[in-house]
Formats: sequence, C-alpha cells, structure tokens
Amino acid sequence: MFNLSLKHILITGAGSGIGLALATHFKQIGCTVSAVDLKVTDELLALNVNCFSADVSDQDSLFAAFKSACHKNGKLDGLINNAGIAIVEGPIGDADITVFERVLDINTKGVYLGIKYASQFLKSGGAIVNTASLAATVTMPEYCAYSMSKAAVVQVTKNAALQLGQHNIRVNSVSPGTITTPMEHADSEESRVATIATALSRPGDVSDLVGVYHFLLSDAAKYVTGIDVKVDGGWSAGITYAGIDKLISE
Ligand SMILES: NC(=O)c1ccc[n+]([C@@H]2O[C@H](COP(=O)([O-])OP(=O)(O)OC[C@H]3O[C@@H](n4cnc5c(N)ncnc54)[C@H](O)[C@@H]3O)[C@@H](O)[C@H]2O)c1
Repeated sequence: MFNLSLKHILITGAGSGIGLALATHFKQIGCTVSAVDLKVTDELLALNVNCFSADVSDQDSLFAAFKSACHKNGKLDGLINNAGIAIVEGPIGDADITVFERVLDINTKGVYLGIKYASQFLKSGGAIVNTASLAATVTMPEYCAYSMSKAAVVQVTKNAALQLGQHNIRVNSVSPGTITTPMEHADSEESRVATIATALSRPGDVSDLVGVYHFLLSDAAKYVTGIDVKVDGGWSAGITYAGIDKLISE
C-alpha cells in the first residue's frame, strides 16, 4: 500500500531544500519525477529527473511546465505544490506592499494554480500534497504576509479536497515547523527558537518530512483528504519544559 514506484510525480520548488529532498527520494524509489523550479539547478541536473523551468505564480509559465511534463511522461499520479518564499516584511506599519504581494503571489496563487491544473493533468486516483507551514497556525511578529499566505494554503487544501473528491483525487497539506534548508539556516533565529519551542528540542531536517509526503501520496492514505499534517517536532502542542524555564528565569 506504500508502493509508489513507476508513479509520475510533479514537484514544484524542486531545486532546493525540501523540494530537492522530495525529488531525490521519489527518484530513488523508482518514480518518474518532473521537477519544476525557477531555474534548473546543478543538483537537479545531477538527479537525472525531468526538469522544467517555470514560475509558479505565472499562469502561462506553470501551465507550459505541466503540459510538457505530461506530454513526455503521461498524466500525473501525484503533485506536490511546494515552491515558496519566506520574506520577513518588517513591522506592519512600514511594510513594503510589493513584498506582501510577491509572497502571496508565489505561496498562495502558485498553489492555487497548481491545483487548477491538477484537475486537467492528474489521473483519477491521484493525490496532491501542498506545502503549507506551521506559520499558518503559530505565527511570529513581522511574518504577517508569510503566515497569511500559508493559512490560505491550508484553506485551499480543504476546498480543493471537496471539489476534487468527486474525481477520486485527494488533497492534503503538510505544515513543516522549522526545517534546516537554504531558506532556514541552522544558525537562524528561528532554528535557535526551535530548540526551545519543540518537544523534540531541535529544528527539523528534510529527512523528517519525506516519509509524510510519501504516506499522503500513497494508497496507505487512500481515505485521507482535506487535512493538514503538522511536522513540527511538537512546537504547536504547547509550551515545553525549556520554554517554561526560559520564561520564568527572565
Ligand atoms: N524550511 C522551513 O523551515 C520551512 C518551514 C515551513 C514551510 N516551508 C515551506 O517549504 C517550501 C520549501 O521551502 P525550503 O525551505 O525548501 O526553501 P528553499 O528556498 O530551499 O526552496 C524553495 C524552492 O522554491 C523555488 N521557488 C521560489 N519561488 C518560485 C517560483 N515563483 N516558481 C518556482 N519555484 C520557485 C526556489 O527556487 C527554491 O528552489 C516553501 O513553500 C516554504 O515556505 C519551509
């Protein structure tokens, strides 16, 4: 029920971090991987997957990538809408509206467009996994646009699950906590907070996520749709012992 070999899976934002780890995993287990990113990176080329350069926030560009991927390898069994950016826009009173718009364009519109094309390019029985974020639930000061964009991803996941269920397509999201990637360096403020804020006392690693996406794409999850799975080391569960100590000692 976990077998995904020979399946065709398209991953956006596959050139780095979480997307690259997913592309590597699905390639290793025998899937046909179509990797979409702004630029085709050396790491992607080394993986020997099908690479397509596209901007997920641009309708024509993303449509062309889906079309080429499916023309070459047939309809999709799985779609991972993962491309995203994290820009801290600063205090809301001084926020740069172009940053706000760019974050929502890529993180929210990009996922919406991916889902839009899925109804055309995904097989019946296929599945979509959207990358949301813990920030959809537990936000941080000055991360307003990012948190809004990811809350919208959780909501579009539920809505699309209702609409695409009639075509036997499941739609779920994954909300990572802090995961060490080029977006979130090991010595970043958030990574240091994660050692105190998570029940597991550490930031996550891409290897902590891969199995969850695999599960959600597989038949093991064939009755799971419209949910968000938090992979956050217990950050959203509550205040940790270390957190209590820190609060009381200050
Ligand atoms: N790293 C974390 O701590 C963390 C936590 C929660 C959620 N996320 C989410 O996970 C996803 C992947 O993040 P990551 O940490 O791997 O980041 P990353 O920066 O390492 O990778 C993101 C990839 O998306 C691509 N991308 C950006 N804009 C694009 C666009 N317009 N069109 C196509 N591709 C585009 C980038 O080129 C890059 O290859 C993002 O959606 C991010 O918001 C990350």
